Amino acid sequence: MLNRRDLLQTAFLGGGAALSSVAQPNVVHAAGKVTSLSALAKQRGILFGTAIGPLVATNEAYRKIVVADAGIVVPEYEMKWRFIEKTQGVYDFSAVDRRLAFAQQNGMAFRGHTLVWHEALPDWFSGAVTVDNAKEVMASHITNVVGRYKGQIHSWDVVNEAIDVTPSGVGDLRNTPWLQMIGPDYLEIAYRTAAAADPGAMLVYNDYGLVYASSGGDAKRAATLRMLERLVSRGVPIHAVGLQGHIEAPIRNFDPNILYRFCMDVAALGLKIMVTELDVSDQYAPADIAVRDAVVADAYKAILSCVLSVPATAAVITWGLSDIHTWLSTSRPRSDGLPVRPLLYTDTMQKKPAWDAVARALSTSSTKRSR
Ligand code: XIL
Repeated sequence: MLNRRDLLQTAFLGGGAALSSVAQPNVVHAAGKVTSLSALAKQRGILFGTAIGPLVATNEAYRKIVVADAGIVVPEYEMKWRFIEKTQGVYDFSAVDRRLAFAQQNGMAFRGHTLVWHEALPDWFSGAVTVDNAKEVMASHITNVVGRYKGQIHSWDVVNEAIDVTPSGVGDLRNTPWLQMIGPDYLEIAYRTAAAADPGAMLVYNDYGLVYASSGGDAKRAATLRMLERLVSRGVPIHAVGLQGHIEAPIRNFDPNILYRFCMDVAALGLKIMVTELDVSDQYAPADIAVRDAVVADAYKAILSCVLSVPATAAVITWGLSDIHTWLSTSRPRSDGLPVRPLLYTDTMQKKPAWDAVARALSTSSTKRSR
C-alpha cells in the first residue's frame, strides 16, 4: 500500500486522485500559459515552495504571491525548539498551527523544520540538559512535536547541519551538544524516534555547503555520503537529503557535474533530493539593479538546471519569496547599504528575472548528464 510519502510524490505524476484536496495546483493561466511555479513544478512531478513567516498573515500582497506560487511551505523559524518550548515543559504551538492552517486552506503541503540542531536551542537548554538525560530530552522533544503533527507533515528536517569537516569537527561530525552528550548515535536515535512518531513523513537530513566545487565542498559531500551510507546500511528510516542551497551571486566555484554526481550518489542509496532553503546572496554583486538581478537569476538557473536533471529530486523550496523579507538582510548585508535582492519578487511583489529563471528551469526538460 502506498503511504502518505509515496502518495505525495506520486500525486503530481497522475497517481494522486486520493489526495486531490491536498494537491490542487494553484494554476494561474495567462494567455494559455501556466505561470505558477507550483504548477510548473507539478507538471514535472515535483513540488515548488517557500519558507513562510508572519507576513503571510499581515501582508495581503505577500500572501497572494505565496498562494500563487507555493505548493509546499515551511515555517522559517516557528517550529524551532526555542520558539515552541520557551519555558521547559511548556509547549506553544500557536504560531505553527497558524502557518499549518494557512497551508491547508490553500492546498499546500507542509514541511517541518527542524528537530535536532545545534542552533535555536531554548535558553533553558544548557542548564537543564546533561549527559544523563540528553537522549531522553531529545527523544521526547521529537516525539512531542512530530506526534502533534502526525499525518500532516510532508517531510521533516530531523537533523540539521550535523557534518563538520573543518578542524572543529569530531571525525566528520559537528561538535554539537548532541554529539557531546549522546555520542554519534544521536542521529540514528533521532531518525528512529521521528519515524515512530509519524511513520508517513519523509525524514530528511538537511545541510549547507554541499553545492560548491571547493575542497571544503568535496570533503563535506564525502563525509555526508559516509554518514548516509552508515545510516542506510543500518536500516535507519531516512528518506531524503536537503540541500539548503544558500548560494551567492555571481556564482563561483560551481561545477554542475560535481553536484550532479553527488545527487546521483545520494539517489543510489535510495534517497530523494530536496532543495530546501534556496536563496542567492547578492552581498558582493554589482550595485546596479539590472546587473544585480541578472547575476542573481543566473545563479538560480545554474543550480536548478543541475538539480532538476536529477530524477530523484522531489522538491525545490526557496527561503522566502519576496525581497520584502529575507534573513540575508541581516546575515549577508551589503557594504554599500543598499537593500539586498536575493529572492524571486521585489519588495513590492513584482516578478524579478530570478522568477523567470526559476520558471524556465522548471519548464525545461532535463538534459541528460554523464556521471
Ligand atoms: C534562519 C532564519 O531564516 C532566521 O529567521 C533565523 O533567525 C535564523 O535561522 N539554515 C537553516 C535555517 O537551517 O533554519 C536558517 O534560518 C538559515 C540557515
